[in-house]
Order: sequence, then C-alpha cells, then structure tokens
Amino acid sequence: MTTTLLTGGTVVSATGRSPADVLIDGETIAAVLAPGSTLLGHDLAASVDRVIDATGKYVIPGGIDAHTHMQLPFGGTSASDTFETGTRAAAWGGTTTIVDFAVQRAGERIQDGLAHWHELAAGNCAIDYGFHQIVGGVDADSLAALPGLIDDGVTSFKMFMAYPGVFYADDAQILRAMQVAADTGLLTMMHAENGPVIDVLAEQLVAAGNTDPYFHGVARAWQMEEEATHRAIMLSHLTGAPLYVVHVSAKQAVEQLAWARDNGQNVFGETCPQYLYLSLEDQLGASSEEWGAFEGAKWVCSTPLRSKHEGHQHHMWQALRTNDIQMVSTDHCPFCMKDQKTLGFGDFRAIPNGIGSVEHRMDLMYQGVVTGQITLERWVELTSTTPARMFGMYGKKGVIAPGADADVVVYDPAGHTSIGVDKTHHMNMDHSAWEGFEIDGHVDTVISRGKVVVDDGTYLGSPGDGRFVKRGLSQYLV
Ligand code: URP
Ligand code: ZN
Ligand code: ZN
Ligand code: ZN
Repeated sequence: MTTTLLTGGTVVSATGRSPADVLIDGETIAAVLAPGSTLLGHDLAASVDRVIDATGKYVIPGGIDAHTHMQLPFGGTSASDTFETGTRAAAWGGTTTIVDFAVQRAGERIQDGLAHWHELAAGNCAIDYGFHQIVGGVDADSLAALPGLIDDGVTSFKMFMAYPGVFYADDAQILRAMQVAADTGLLTMMHAENGPVIDVLAEQLVAAGNTDPYFHGVARAWQMEEEATHRAIMLSHLTGAPLYVVHVSAKQAVEQLAWARDNGQNVFGETCPQYLYLSLEDQLGASSEEWGAFEGAKWVCSTPLRSKHEGHQHHMWQALRTNDIQMVSTDHCPFCMKDQKTLGFGDFRAIPNGIGSVEHRMDLMYQGVVTGQITLERWVELTSTTPARMFGMYGKKGVIAPGADADVVVYDPAGHTSIGVDKTHHMNMDHSAWEGFEIDGHVDTVISRGKVVVDDGTYLGSPGDGRFVKRGLSQYLV
C-alpha cells in the first residue's frame, strides 16, 4: 500500500475551494488537511511514500464521463476506440471513471448484451468503468429482465426515439419500460429525437441530391428534438418515472426540460462539449482540400450540431449556470474518416454517427471557467460530482473526502494544452474533432484509485487498472 501526500494545492469541490493537503492511503483518500498539517507531531511529508507538489494548482475529484460508446457497433462498423485505447485517452484528459452503454438489440436478451459488454471491458480498462444498458428491443422478455439490472449494478437504461430499425422504441414501448422504471427506481435515459420524421426528411434531401454531411444537420431539425423531448417528459409525468435526456443540443429542448423541472418533475438533461463550441455551419458545413464538403463527416453525430445563428450555444451555457442542464458528458463515439466515416460518401445517412471527445472534456469545460461562463466549483460539479450523484456512485466517486476512492486530478491553470492529432491525442482516431483548439490549463497528474496513471506527460497506467463500478440507484432524485 502506497501513501501519497498532495501538498500546496487548492482543493476544489462542487461547493467551494480551499487550500488543503490531501493524504491518500492505498486506494482511498485518508484525510483532507489544513496545509502543512502534522499528524500527532509527525511531519507528514517525511512519513509518506510519495509527495506530489500541487502548489499553484487545483486538486479536483477525477472526471466522470457518464456517456461513452467504446467499440459500439453502428452503421456497419464499430466505434474505433476499444475499452483499452478509449479509457487510456480518458485518463490522459483527467477522467477517472466512464459509464459506457452495454447494448441489447431487438430479439436479444438483455443479460447476454450486458455479459458481452463485461467481456469487452474486463481486464482492458485504464480507469474505473460502469455501464448503462441500451434497450434496443423493448419486449416482454427485456421488460422482465430490467429489474434484475439493479443487482448487477446497472441502474439506468437508455431508449431511443430515433434510429428506426436500429434501436428505436415507439411510444407504447417507452410507456411500458417507464412503468418498470417507476416501479423499480431505475433511471430512464432518452435519446429524444423524432426518428421516423427525421428519416423522411433525410430521404427527401438525398432524393433531391443533398447528400453532403451538412444535410445531416438539416434533416435532424430542432423541432423534432423539442417535440421528442416534450413527449418523453409527458410519458415521464404519466408514469412517474424520472427522466434523463442525453446529448441535448437544441435550446428549445432545454426550454422543455426547464418547464418540466419548474413543474416539479424529476427531469434532467445532459449536454456535450460539441454543442457548446461547434456548429452546423462551421463544422458540419466545413470543406477541406482533402475531403471537399465531406470534411463535415467528422462532426456527424446525433443530436446534430446546431446553427450558430439560432443562439443554441449561448442558451446551453446559460442552462449550465441555471441548472436547467445538470451535467456534461462527451457521448464519445469515435469513427475514423478512412474506412468508417467514408461509408457515407455520397449519402450522409450512411455516415456512422459520433464524435470522439473523451480525452478533452475536462479541458474544454475548464475553458468555461476561463471565459467566465461557469465557476470553478460548477466545473467540478458538472464534470464529476453530479455524474456521481446522478448515477449512484457518490461518496466513492465525485468528491475528495475521507473514505472516497482516491481518484484525483492535479490541474494546472497556468498550463497550456494544444489539441490536435499530432499534439495531445491518444484516442484511436485518424483526426480530431477538436483540431486546433488551444486550452488555457493542463492536466498535470491523474491518480486513479491511488495509482498515479498520468504524471505530467508520462503514462504510468496499464490495461486492467480499471475496475467495474457496481452503481447504486440515483442519488440525485428529489
Ligand atoms: O452520434 C451519436 N450520438 N452516436 C452515438 C449513439 C447515440 O445516439 O448516443
Ligand atoms: Zn443517443
Ligand atoms: Zn450516445
Ligand atoms: Zn503542466
């Protein structure tokens, strides 16, 4: 058992900041002490195995990315990050826990889908990991299997109002699953976009010769995100099942969430860095010498990037301040351009959906602190503390306090990070959705359950360091 003392830093939580030393004993935080404290007269620094000098830096709970898709089969290919490469990249970026989505498809057993996801992840992860369950086929068998997930430590499941023929659930299926959720305490997660309407619009666009990635964003109209969000809210109201809407991108969807919350409903929303920084025009509509107008394929994801002329980004940052949106995950679902995104050359409908960001979430969200959009405490809350509470891990995760897992990041506000495939890039992708982003701030040291896995530019972890996190029921519900 190694003992570690972090000295001289400012410990930041969701509710405050103060200069403090942090003592780690093995895998656990043993004490948070006044700077320079002695223990029964002993100089602590002289009695521990390792001292990490955090002078001038922030000491924060490790990031929790509650929405990733390592190895997800999608559109005839699979997300390019394995659990090994994706969790290593996460660690590089100051994330010490992910919650990935196990997949069940129509006709398959939920238990088999979950067992398969355990096989993919076990022994390969650099950091701790939990699972949500995708229910891609709501039928009598899957409904009967849902309650059993709680004992497996999988306390949330996702349904899709989008992707007909793939993961789509109709309103009747959603109603039945929400009734189970209301009875059991499982948290319902929703991909809220009206898939059947979007598919018609997409078909009409392609028939008219509008095949470039840009039209992915045109087909997935904000009206159909607002509508689906509202429908999910009403089904949640009817059944009493709490609702967590994933990857919210439209300001109108945020307004629906705010309205439901003001009505007293247990309704929550997550957004992603791409919806705070990137747009329909600048990214989906991008063109390059190498790819022409197909350049935009790098940013094909659902929900899509929204128009910069409609105020979505501004509204989303505001929602992060007002708690109309509670947390930020990445929806990390990377695909290479070569052999993957190019499946949709000539027809945007065949471009595999997803962006890779798991490595950059902490840095990208810290820019909100730099620009004055959110406080330092809110940064920690959005990226670590609320994800822990929302998904039943708080106490062990999401906080620096005695008894918590020693998942700790030393973040240097005076440091600098240049993002790009030839710079800081550890995700298994042949491009970066964040190429050219310059970050004020730097992830210096990353400690995962007491083990230093990143030490200012050196990776010290190994596959299998990460363990499965058996989650409890949500601790966020009122
Ligand atoms: O484009 C995305 N979001 N791909 C991953 C699947 C999903 O809907 O979350
Ligand atoms: Zn989704
Ligand atoms: Zn997703
Ligand atoms: Zn540094």
